[in-house]
Amino acid sequence: MASYFDRIVKPCFNELLNIIPGKKGPKPYFKLIRSFMRKDPVVLSDAVIVLTTKCSLKCINCNNLMPCYRKPYDIPLKEVLWDIKRLISASDLIVKLTLIGGEPFLYPHLGKVLDAVLDNPKILYISLTTNGTILPSEELLQKLSHPKVVVQISDYGVKTQKVEKLHALLVEHGIASVPDKVVSWVKPGGTEYRGKGRKQLCKEYQECFSSKYCRTLLKGKFYLCARGAHLSDLGYMKSSHDEFNIRSKRTRTQFRKEFLRYLLSDYADACNYCDHGLKITVKPGEQVTAGSPME
Ligand SMILES: C[S@@+](CC[C@H](N)C(=O)[O-])C[C@H]1O[C@@H](n2cnc3c(N)ncnc32)[C@H](O)[C@@H]1O
Ligand code: SF4
Repeated sequence: MASYFDRIVKPCFNELLNIIPGKKGPKPYFKLIRSFMRKDPVVLSDAVIVLTTKCSLKCINCNNLMPCYRKPYDIPLKEVLWDIKRLISASDLIVKLTLIGGEPFLYPHLGKVLDAVLDNPKILYISLTTNGTILPSEELLQKLSHPKVVVQISDYGVKTQKVEKLHALLVEHGIASVPDKVVSWVKPGGTEYRGKGRKQLCKEYQECFSSKYCRTLLKGKFYLCARGAHLSDLGYMKSSHDEFNIRSKRTRTQFRKEFLRYLLSDYADACNYCDHGLKITVKPGEQVTAGSPME
């Protein structure tokens, strides 16, 4: 098992330090420290919530495999709300709740999800990662102007992106927004099984960003990384080790005990379907074109 300090305490403080300046005073730090003073605290640095697998771009090297979905879909609102509620009730604190897709601004119930999480005292920040192709409605902009919200705009230099326009619109509404000029991606490779042994899997997972900041909730299951969530959802991988079913019946005490153990997993089966360990970089946001095998 990984150490509690490396897997939970350190990433939580790092996550807070990385929230853009002006969004934080000392209060969140006090809250975090207080949470760690509880008995066996369940504190999450980042919980990534998948709302939809629909996307307005088709990036060849999308880590989360969006172009592999032949029939992209929205997660029903009722399920999203129930799962988030369960996750919050079992946790002491979530430093950052990230709403993601696909493209989160394509999700028709985004406003309702925000209504459910914005004022929850157990969540310090709510982040949305968008590809900047869609300008949100006035109604949504009003909700996003909550002081807890941060919008990260991935700038891939794709023609259909409106990064500057979106950034200006968000700033105009007082919404904290970070245009992120993404300069390189890591090549995740195909979805086939690689046959790596446990030692290698441990090494790769510990070194991967995902083990600290990318644990992902999709359709009632928590996964050790975002790619793993979609590898399972698309049927490329079956791993009971990598998933934690938050809808299973358990007492709160049982849930917390099992969840904590799960969060300290020292490897992920998903690394057997990924090349991140090779650290090969690629141009971000390159699009699937007509005639390519992914089309
Ligand atoms: C999968 S995207 C989903 C949100 C949104 N559609 C977007 O593109 O920002 C979430 C994050 O994953 C990152 N990402 C996707 N593929 C990646 C890769 N191969 N290597 C590194 N980061 C990647 C994106 O840059 C973005 O910050
Ligand atoms: S990385 Fe590209 S394909 Fe993947 S979710 Fe973001 S915009 Fe869509």
